[in-house]
Amino acid sequence: MTTDPRIPREIARRRTFAIISHPDAGKTTLTEKLLLYSGVVQTAGLVKNRKGKLATSDWMGMEQARGISITSSAMQFQYRGHVINVLDTPGHEDFSEDTFRTLTAADSAIMVLDASKGVEAQTRKLFEVCRLRGIPILTFVNKLDLPGRDPLELMAEVEEALGIESSAMNWPVGSGRDFRGVVDRRTRELMLFEKTAAGGSQKSDVERIPLDSPIAEERLGAEEAARVREELELLEVAGNEMDVDRFLKGEVTPTFFGSALTNFGLEPFFNAFVELAPSPSGRMVDEDAGGEVMREASEPFSAFIFKIQANMDPRHRDCVSFMRICSGRYTPDLQVNHRRLGKKVRLARPQSIVAKERHSIEEAFAGDVVGLVGKGLYQIGDTLSDAVGFAHKPLPQFQPELFARIAPLTTSDRKKFDKGMKNLITEGAVQQMWPDVGPKEPLIGAVGALQFESLQYRLKDEYAVETRLTALPYASSAWLAGDEDSFKAPTNSLLARDDRGRRVILFVSDLDKRIALQQNPDHELLNFA
Ligand code: G4P
Repeated sequence: MTTDPRIPREIARRRTFAIISHPDAGKTTLTEKLLLYSGVVQTAGLVKNRKGKLATSDWMGMEQARGISITSSAMQFQYRGHVINVLDTPGHEDFSEDTFRTLTAADSAIMVLDASKGVEAQTRKLFEVCRLRGIPILTFVNKLDLPGRDPLELMAEVEEALGIESSAMNWPVGSGRDFRGVVDRRTRELMLFEKTAAGGSQKSDVERIPLDSPIAEERLGAEEAARVREELELLEVAGNEMDVDRFLKGEVTPTFFGSALTNFGLEPFFNAFVELAPSPSGRMVDEDAGGEVMREASEPFSAFIFKIQANMDPRHRDCVSFMRICSGRYTPDLQVNHRRLGKKVRLARPQSIVAKERHSIEEAFAGDVVGLVGKGLYQIGDTLSDAVGFAHKPLPQFQPELFARIAPLTTSDRKKFDKGMKNLITEGAVQQMWPDVGPKEPLIGAVGALQFESLQYRLKDEYAVETRLTALPYASSAWLAGDEDSFKAPTNSLLARDDRGRRVILFVSDLDKRIALQQNPDHELLNFA
């Protein structure tokens, strides 16, 4: 254990989390408002481009803004004395395995739901990864200012679709045009919704009125006030209780209702978040001696690599590997053991900002994400640590949904192509699998279309090979758990093995996969391996 008292203090004030949501639910808006309420920006909206999306470069432009540090992987700033690390989980067309892998670096997650849509496809996928890790999740039901679904129905959907209990922390009064505000269930205070000036670009203070006071009755009207009280009573009886231990185990999600765009319900949500979300804690590691052991966050330095990004800046033409610090403290030039290579390396040039400007980091603690510059030294899943004799858990692989064959355009490029593919697959750019039948050529699989595009680009740019990509008609896959021989695969599916020799099944549709599952009750089809 370390003796420097600053280390546990610094770790305790960190909150490292990811925001999971389906595109358009409001992740960007919520992140931006977190910056507004933390005082990092004074006016929200300035950093948005016209389409309302924040490109990474837009965020980068903000780095001069007081005390914010941004990599393409995480953003760090302070909120009420806490050090916030928001991990970037790209959605839309940028969705890729990186998005999933990033979740392995988070200690908690905020799930944003659009009140009119509920649980959508991408939320479900990201949630599954959080669940796999058992990390705690807070839910923010967004866009209450627009017509939405019944809150009880939304909570029931979360429970059914995701298998996690939903516990309302506040309760909406009306919705859409009739949205009046929310009641804080803990204090029974009513916060009345008022459209803020300038479309929510400024912080707004919300008046708190005791629900059981004549003022509340006056503002809401007797009928509405009575209805809210009734709903709250019903929740007391039939709703799920918020239990901190169960929240920390990922069994119950505290649920908040609000509107990110209009700044409604945000401050109570952010405050509850820093209070409830855990600081970096110990992680289970695999010991060389066999077995698993918990390594506490306060132990000497250890980290793992969860993302590698090449050619981020054409002027540098190098590679940035992102490490999540799991224990201890990083200081410049720290010498650590690089487990896979079996040698010591100096963490010489860690970067906080990876864009046009690169700033060196002076210090970082468990929970922080640091970019390491240098080509070829790191792979996804690598363990870097002060002590030896253990490894961080290998990062899971995720079920690809897009498949293709790839080959060099010119046969004389074969050697360069093979070398490039080998490196890029090791880096985790795409997955590779070997079909049981057909040509002895591997297939490649990805969870997002951009992965194929970037693979082709990198083969051309870094290895000077032009390639041809032929898409394959499979839309889903799974790793098979159970006896291989007795598994009855659908006729149009394809059997293959991944690079580690595990059985993979490619399905033409999700429906086929579900049918296969029904027809093989003794088998499991795994989305992660
Ligand atoms: P994302 O990152 O999850 O994809 O979502 P983002 O924050 O970009 O929000 C998607 C759209 O929803 C944006 O509108 C945003 O303004 C809007 N939005 C977010 N939160 C709320 C809310 O609480 N209430 C309402 N009414 N709208 C909300 P857009 O038209 O795509 O962009 P913009 O031009 O309005 O910025």
